[in-house]
Amino acid sequence: MIEDYYKYQAQTSAHPLALEISHAKGSYIYDSKGNAHLDFVAGVSACSLGHCHPRVVNAIQDQLQKYMHVMVYGEYIQEPAVAYTKLLAEQLPSPLETTYLVNSGTEAIEGALKLARRFTGRSQILAARNAYHGNTMGSLSIMGYEERKSAFRPLIPDVGFIRFNSEEDLFKITEKTAGVVLETIQGGAGFILPENGYLKKVRERCSAVGAMLILDEIQPGFGRTGKLFAFEHFDCIPDILVIGKGMGGGLPVGAFVASHNMMQTLTENPKLGHITTFGGNPVIAAACLATLQELIESTLIQESLEKENLLRKLLQHRLIKEIRGKGLMLALIMENPEIANEVVLKCAAKNLILFWLLFEPNAVRISPPLTITTEEITLGCALILEVLDSLKQ
Ligand SMILES: Cc1ncc(COP(=O)(O)O)c(C=O)c1O
Repeated sequence: MIEDYYKYQAQTSAHPLALEISHAKGSYIYDSKGNAHLDFVAGVSACSLGHCHPRVVNAIQDQLQKYMHVMVYGEYIQEPAVAYTKLLAEQLPSPLETTYLVNSGTEAIEGALKLARRFTGRSQILAARNAYHGNTMGSLSIMGYEERKSAFRPLIPDVGFIRFNSEEDLFKITEKTAGVVLETIQGGAGFILPENGYLKKVRERCSAVGAMLILDEIQPGFGRTGKLFAFEHFDCIPDILVIGKGMGGGLPVGAFVASHNMMQTLTENPKLGHITTFGGNPVIAAACLATLQELIESTLIQESLEKENLLRKLLQHRLIKEIRGKGLMLALIMENPEIANEVVLKCAAKNLILFWLLFEPNAVRISPPLTITTEEITLGCALILEVLDSLKQ
């Protein structure tokens, strides 16, 4: 199959990992040769409940028996989407009440940018240096990493940048600003946490000048950091919350959430201000509902902090300079990119799945399913230490 894969399926890099998948269950992905790979990445933070969680699979199968796509988003009353958006609203603080369901994280960002512009009547968008919000034109425009976007210019106008965690840059948020988009915890940049009440200060500045604060929780959301959403750690409620990845239990989805009043502005002047064919798809909404129910009813969210402690305790090695992040969103910071690279590739050879971060070449990503067990963590960490010991550094 490998020749067909390279020939017919568009590639994103010259060196894909190219593991040929047979099936996946829990914390393991099985290749076509019958090897079991322990998954410390969870499809890049997407498979929060592990692979093929029975509750999610049952919900999908039940919905498949009833109906799949019946109409474009918003026209018909489809129970899975209604039940999901209601349950989500019940978990969120005011004024985050109304959810617009779309198909991916980047599309949710596009919707949030449009909503901020439409609601404020302003055009300027500010984002953070080293930010990653997705790869469509709007999201690319607010990507804070020039090297990855200059080939695609011109991008959308009236976009500016501030430094994440820089109080000095807050003056750039003014009465001209429609929205400030930030990842609650910066992902691609290296799992950078907000410090010294930074998000609260951004919140205050946005409120003072009437700019919308848009928090991108696509990666830290859905329990990964020890709370359902990471903003709950930082005493800061956004005007627009953007979610994706872990919300679908392994199916493609994204959403943006705002006050009912704000969201209503997308329905008029112009009408149909944001539309999508497949957003709110009932099968995917059923998977989202089952995922959220499982997260709320289990102890997985609290456990992610205990699992973080275990990982931090086990992963002590002279080649690991720092462990960044929170909960099960952790990055091992190595001295140089070569070590990081070797760790990922040599662990892959030992059937442990690790990955890189987009803009931090010294980092090794650890973002396992929240369902990972203590034994699996212990096994994976032993493999990482074995590889580190084998490096000639
Ligand atoms: C913080 C953040 N925002 C947005 C996105 C884009 O999501 P998607 O790949 O579903 O479009 C990602 C994906 O990695 C992300 O990590």
